[in-house]
Amino acid sequence: MTFVSRLAFLLLPLSVFLLQSVSAQTMDSKKLLSEPKTYVGSEVCKTCHLEHYDAWKRTLHSKMLQDVSKNEDVIVTELDQAVMKEDFKKIEKKLKTPLDQVYFPKREDVMYTIGSQWKQRYLVKKDGTYYIAPTQFNIDTGRWVNYHDHDWDKRPWLKKCGGCHATGVDLEKETFLEPGVGCESCHGPGSHHASLPATETFKKRATIVNPSKLTGGVATQICGSCHNRGKATKFKGAGWPVGYRPGKALETYYKSIEIGDKHLYASGLSKGHHQQYIDWKKSRHADSGVNCMSCHVVHQLGNPLFKSKTKLEGDKLCTSCHEQVANVGAHSVHSFGNCANCHMPRIAKSAESGDIRSHVFTALLPKDTIETGVPNSCQTCHKHKDEDPADLQKRWDALTTRRAPAGEMVKANQ
Ligand code: HEC
Ligand code: HEC
Ligand code: HEC
Ligand code: HEC
Ligand code: HEC
Ligand code: HEC
Ligand code: HEC
Ligand code: HEC
Repeated sequence: MTFVSRLAFLLLPLSVFLLQSVSAQTMDSKKLLSEPKTYVGSEVCKTCHLEHYDAWKRTLHSKMLQDVSKNEDVIVTELDQAVMKEDFKKIEKKLKTPLDQVYFPKREDVMYTIGSQWKQRYLVKKDGTYYIAPTQFNIDTGRWVNYHDHDWDKRPWLKKCGGCHATGVDLEKETFLEPGVGCESCHGPGSHHASLPATETFKKRATIVNPSKLTGGVATQICGSCHNRGKATKFKGAGWPVGYRPGKALETYYKSIEIGDKHLYASGLSKGHHQQYIDWKKSRHADSGVNCMSCHVVHQLGNPLFKSKTKLEGDKLCTSCHEQVANVGAHSVHSFGNCANCHMPRIAKSAESGDIRSHVFTALLPKDTIETGVPNSCQTCHKHKDEDPADLQKRWDALTTRRAPAGEMVKANQ
């Protein structure tokens, strides 16, 4: 593409953005460059980085929050009031509101969908503020469950969830620029970068964050700004790191949950979802600098994408670094099995229990269940009725513990 055609390409969406968020007079890029960086949206980045854009479109990041007015089909089910009510009847004991007073959203109430992989929730507006409707659809099981049926209209979405699901959130103005995890969630606000002509390679590079050029710790904190659970330190009551930007130290803006929180098992492993960063920090991988980007791609040009966007498929990912997994101990009993099923057991919940994997990478033995109540890696397969974890542990120990050598050592000739 020539410079001129790129510029023409750029001006179209950029002018839309300028008209919307700045003002018509600030059109010229000099002025834009003299002002603080702002968010421009992924559609602007697309004009020069089409391949990255297409790759990102194939990931869940681009689909987290979807505008129903643009495409009705983003709703994965039917919002049938009778079906919702029927499902709620089955869990009536869990409800904090009498069933006939639960708010079931109608199709025309829903403005955005939240999620499409494990579960879907729905954004509605009440008195000008976005709230999450109290009905959640679990995608694998196809059932409706309640979500804060009694206090849903006291939990403003932008403050509780906004920064992890949308890009360019402004809590003061109560706005966001783009639904979903856009380019600038990981690369920082791009108004300076985007307004420079494409020929200004070095200035361009200097005005945008490239995570692979940051130190590993700070780069991983970008992922940690969302794959985390805790409290904002700079904005009371917010669930996401308000004020944080890629390249900054996350700890200044966010305090993660600690042992004792209901989203962690007693031993500190994750029971709740979006806690991959909390898990990972406890792992040997973190100590060795093996981070999210070592195993995942966020936009991989050209190549096919595997489940959860891992760099390689299944065991190949692990064995690309762990060339030799010695056939001793744990690994000698099973002639098969996949690494992740033992080392990343599904012990956390998004929609239904057991749909999210642990990212501490330690295999959990039956004795862990006995000691701390955490599910183990074994009983997804060893699940015969009444199977006693203590008995499985005993059989395991018998097979994997090396016995002390019998007899006496022969003395060396002197
Ligand atoms: C007018 C065209 C243009 C637009 C619009 C644009 N970029 Fe770029 N971008 C470039 C050019 C040119 C480079 C430098 C390429 C090189 O280093 O060879 C670049 C480099 C980058 C880099 C790598 C920087 C580095 O130091 O390695 C990132 C990341 C990036 N852009 C992200 C974005 C994002 C995010 C947006 C939207 C906010 C965006 N770009 C919008 C043209 C553009
Ligand atoms: C979830 C975080 C995330 C999102 C969203 C994201 N990127 Fe990136 N981007 C990265 C990381 C991390 C790197 C560093 C290289 C790598 O590990 O792939 C990178 C690298 C880049 C680069 C440098 C060249 C390269 O491929 O290494 C460009 C250009 C870029 N991204 C553009 C974009 C654009 C355009 C979008 C939106 C369409 C986008 N990115 C969305 C995380 C993200
Ligand atoms: C602004 C918040 C945010 C940031 C920053 C972010 N993520 Fe995510 N990530 C999400 C959300 C939300 C989802 C779930 C989206 C959905 O289900 O639609 C997700 C999903 C994913 C998935 C599953 C993707 C798929 O397509 O199956 C992976 C893997 C992932 N993120 C890795 C990363 C990595 C690696 C980084 C850092 C380079 C990162 N994320 C940065 C919010 C974020
Ligand atoms: C600290 C960031 C953060 C906050 C705050 C947050 N989420 Fe998320 N959420 C994520 C990430 C990351 C994922 C995907 C990874 C996972 O689930 O393990 C996710 C997943 C989801 C999903 C499932 C997506 C799918 O495709 O199935 C839904 C629905 C959801 N969040 C709704 C909410 C709601 C509603 C709130 C506010 C009450 C909220 N989240 C608060 C980061 C966050
Ligand atoms: C050692 C490799 C490795 C590292 C490091 C790693 N992951 Fe993963 N991740 C995986 C594998 C393997 C899966 C499961 C893929 C599958 O189900 O096929 C996965 C799944 C996920 C999922 C989907 C949720 C689920 O449990 O199915 C998310 C989101 C995710 N990872 C985010 C992250 C983030 C954020 C980081 C950094 C804090 C990270 N991962 C670090 C290997 C890794
Ligand atoms: C990018 C390379 C890389 C990838 C990919 C990778 N690992 Fe690792 N892994 C390492 C390094 C380096 C260490 C630290 C080794 C050490 O401390 O001796 C490690 C440590 C471990 C440990 C702890 C070892 C111990 O002695 O306690 C386990 C378990 C493990 N990895 C499992 C996995 C699994 C399962 C996967 C696939 C999901 C995987 N690894 C993918 C590089 C990798
Ligand atoms: C049946 C469950 C299971 C499977 C499958 C499994 N592991 Fe393990 N692995 C364990 C347990 C348990 C340990 C702890 C050490 C022990 O008891 O021997 C372990 C230990 C490890 C270690 C630590 C160093 C060592 O050798 O003792 C690494 C690295 C590792 N596994 C990698 C892998 C990789 C890579 C795969 C896939 C090729 C894999 N494991 C498959 C259960 C399993
Ligand atoms: C993917 C399914 C699967 C997982 C996960 C798994 N096993 Fe197994 N296990 C089997 C099967 C099938 C056999 C029969 C031997 C074979 O075919 O290799 C077996 C054999 C065994 C045996 C020897 C026979 C017996 O029952 O006494 C023990 C002990 C054992 N497993 C313990 C464990 C422990 C402990 C774990 C968790 C760390 C585990 N297994 C994880 C499927 C699994």
